[in-house]
Amino acid sequence: MRNDNEAWLTPWEPSAAMAWRDRHTPTAFRAMRRASTRRARVGMSLPFAVHHEGRLVGQVTVDNIVRGALRSGHLGYWVDSAVAGRGVASLAVALVCDHAFGPVGLHRLQADIRPENQPSRRLVERLGFTQEGLFRRYLDIDGGWRDHLAYALLADDVPGGVLGRWRSRHPG
Ligand SMILES: CC(C)(COP(=O)(O)OP(=O)(O)OC[C@H]1O[C@@H](n2cnc3c(N)ncnc32)[C@H](O)[C@@H]1OP(=O)(O)O)[C@@H](O)C(=O)NCCC(=O)NCCS
Repeated sequence: MRNDNEAWLTPWEPSAAMAWRDRHTPTAFRAMRRASTRRARVGMSLPFAVHHEGRLVGQVTVDNIVRGALRSGHLGYWVDSAVAGRGVASLAVALVCDHAFGPVGLHRLQADIRPENQPSRRLVERLGFTQEGLFRRYLDIDGGWRDHLAYALLADDVPGGVLGRWRSRHPG
């Protein structure tokens, strides 16, 4: 699926020395899973797979989790272009936000988004995130240092839950 989505995902993903196809082999996938599981076990990451109609269609991850006084994490997500624009990504991200703010006990979720990534900006704005600033040449994405808008959602921004807010706007 990721190989089918190379052109769809490349503009928003970290730069890499290896070619896309060499990074998307069964061996590379197993290594990614092991690394992801290790980070999850020590509480640094919440990795989720998104399933739709019985099929894997994407991922949502809360990474770089910091506890203590900050209790924060960074949100990342992508879906198969075949399911885009149908509310699948918004629903998945809403569920993960509620899990992170509820049982996991985080207070802040940050989503760093390239200004030109309109679908991603619309997604977080729909869920109630606030644009807090602009990080200059912040992340090494698609072959260069790219500016990113800093969006954040605080647990107390959405007292009824993110899913509740999303459902109230999409009653169908
Ligand atoms: C970013 C990304 C996850 C956004 O996904 P998306 O498909 O736009 O999000 P959704 O599936 O929730 O679709 C939202 C749209 O579907 C519409 N929609 C259609 N049916 C819907 C339904 N039943 N329920 C809710 N929304 C629905 C929404 O109104 C919304 O329209 P709008 O964008 O015109 O406001 C996706 O574009 C992606 O994977 N991009 C590549 C990777 C990427 O950019 N990752 C993020 C890096 S920061």
